[in-house]
Amino acid sequence: MENNVRPASMERITTKALADAFIAEQVAAVREQVGDKKVLLALSGGVDSSVVAALLIKAIGKQLVCVHVNHGLMRKNESENVVELFQNQLDANLIYVDATDRFLDLLAGVSDPEQKRKIIGKEFINVFADEARNLEGIEFLAQGTIYPDILESIKQAEGKKAVKSHHNVGGLPEDLKFALVEPLKLLFKDEVRVVGEALGLPHAMVYRQPFPGPGLGVRCLGAITRDRLTALREADAILRDEFDKCGLAEKVWQYFVIIPDMKSVGVKDDSRYEGWPAIIRAVNTVDAMTATIEEIPYSVLHKITSRIVTEVEGINRVLYDLTPKPTGTIEWE
Ligand code: XMP
Repeated sequence: MENNVRPASMERITTKALADAFIAEQVAAVREQVGDKKVLLALSGGVDSSVVAALLIKAIGKQLVCVHVNHGLMRKNESENVVELFQNQLDANLIYVDATDRFLDLLAGVSDPEQKRKIIGKEFINVFADEARNLEGIEFLAQGTIYPDILESIKQAEGKKAVKSHHNVGGLPEDLKFALVEPLKLLFKDEVRVVGEALGLPHAMVYRQPFPGPGLGVRCLGAITRDRLTALREADAILRDEFDKCGLAEKVWQYFVIIPDMKSVGVKDDSRYEGWPAIIRAVNTVDAMTATIEEIPYSVLHKITSRIVTEVEGINRVLYDLTPKPTGTIEWE
């Protein structure tokens, strides 16, 4: 428990020099802890797991085995980018698992948000555990735990209730007992980003917006269908592309598209066209406990709307969510 408490004397990592010192210290600590044994890491491509991967590649090279599980709920090109960066550029020992069918088959017909989250979280562990069982000589499990995760578990241990069941890797089955390697566990998110840049990870990856563990699964509302999920992925890619072009990507904390499980009547090529609405959400926050909405300029909203309704099959309207948190949570499920 003691090494889970950040000492008051620990300096905030704000510069490359401080990050380099932290990296040198952790590289030595990991080498000491792990020796010549192998370490397993679930690499989602999020900031925390990516920084852990880069740090461990530096420390122990191919003794690190990364597993990237594509649950079919990733954003456009996300899994491809993880493979390109870690396997092709950083020469990591990476296992890519396309588990799309496993997840989507289990989720078919399930509309309750908490049940969806539970299925995704549980299946993630099943897929990861299946991979782990096929590997030999693994003694350690690396995790991208950061200090707010530790503070959150302390809060939950004190009996405070969470609004949604968040999922991150944890709770592996009994037969898979690994010692943990958690080099970022005393760092805050801004420090993790500084360390990530010092490790040479691309700026866009280190400063990317948060993406929930259940991925597009909580943005394809109600029972997920493959056609609506495809529409969501394409519409979300357009939103991100337009935010990149106009500079909002650098400014807005989190922005994405949601597609509800409903259709409205529209018109296309002089014919009745029933389609889903795409809902845009763009919020700013410090700690995700409360959030305000970004006032996206109308010119940008027009551009996004026109691209989504012409380029994405199945969408005939675009709506803009103006609700702060509270009362709306950031995600819709
Ligand atoms: P809510 O919707 O609760 O979201 O206002 C707050 C922040 O948490 C993210 N989020 C998740 N992150 N696993 C995660 O790692 C999850 O299951 C999860 N669900 C929500 C959400 O995107 C927002 O940034």
